Amino acid sequence: MKFLVTGSAGLVGSQVVQDLAKSEHQVYSCYGQSKPRKGIPVQLDLVNNDNIIQVVEDTKPDVIIHLAAMTNVDLCEKEKDLALKINAQATGTLAKQAARHGSFFVYVSTDYVFDGEKGMKRESDMPSPVDYYGYSKYQGELAIQDMASSWCIARTSTPFGMHHTKKSFPVFVAENLRAKKEITIVTDQYTSPTYVPNLSQMLIEISTRQILGILHLAGATRISRYDMATLVAQKLGLEKSLLKPASINDMNWIAKRPKDSSLDISKATQILKVKPIPVEEGLDRFISEIKTGSN
Ligand SMILES: NC(=O)c1ccc[n+]([C@@H]2O[C@H](COP(=O)([O-])OP(=O)(O)OC[C@H]3O[C@@H](n4cnc5c(N)ncnc54)[C@H](OP(=O)(O)O)[C@@H]3O)[C@@H](O)[C@H]2O)c1
Repeated sequence: MKFLVTGSAGLVGSQVVQDLAKSEHQVYSCYGQSKPRKGIPVQLDLVNNDNIIQVVEDTKPDVIIHLAAMTNVDLCEKEKDLALKINAQATGTLAKQAARHGSFFVYVSTDYVFDGEKGMKRESDMPSPVDYYGYSKYQGELAIQDMASSWCIARTSTPFGMHHTKKSFPVFVAENLRAKKEITIVTDQYTSPTYVPNLSQMLIEISTRQILGILHLAGATRISRYDMATLVAQKLGLEKSLLKPASINDMNWIAKRPKDSSLDISKATQILKVKPIPVEEGLDRFISEIKTGSN
């Protein structure tokens, strides 16, 4: 199969293109600024509609996995027009091109489409974002349902894994604790942390089986940021007392965050061969990946 992956040098994208490149699939790795390490590199500027149309025209993919996004939550709050352009309008254009060329369209969305008042959200629950990042990603979801003909919206939550520049949460915790630095971590924000290699395999299964509709592809554990940081400290034998508990209300974040954006993954568990894994297993695998430097 011929794949076109956007955001292919990002945290999730770099794993997806690495996994696809190992298989018999052909992969076009789209990037904005940073060049991907695997696949056939294709420059793609999501703020340029003509460029999006041309790239799909030139590559004619069987499947598009759309991961590129403006992911900095506070920046989205400050630069709303740009966030909407990248996360929603570009998604609509790409989805329309997918429909024109008969490509299956997989859009990676977020737990932040929910308000976080009550967690463990199911696919049938109504989004109601509290911040502009979540709003713009939800507008992307709506654009797909309007424009694409064959699509899957895969919502994930707090992905963590190896990346050459982006530090995911366990790495941030480990680096600070190793340097004996205190870090403030919120006790009242809950998510479903997702180990990136597990997410990548689920995304590839969805793409090859062309599973339609909305699916929550996240880790199998609802956990607070603080408890996750504590787990990291325990597993690495680092000093837990350096973790300073705080409330989400104490943080000087520009954008509001949903308090509990954990996702119910029972649908994915039921229908996929690759199952969402618990956070403990994800962390164990991540730690051994770091030790062997396997990425
Ligand atoms: N990270 C999270 O906590 C989280 C949680 C839930 C869902 N998600 C979703 O999962 C997906 C992947 O997230 P991630 O953490 O892997 O993201 P990431 O590491 O921030 O990567 C995002 C990618 O988007 C690309 N991009 C941004 N603006 C672009 C533009 N104008 N034109 C072309 N490419 C552009 C960037 O490419 P360049 O750097 O090359 O410009 C980058 O590689 C996103 O859709 C995100 O919304 C993320």
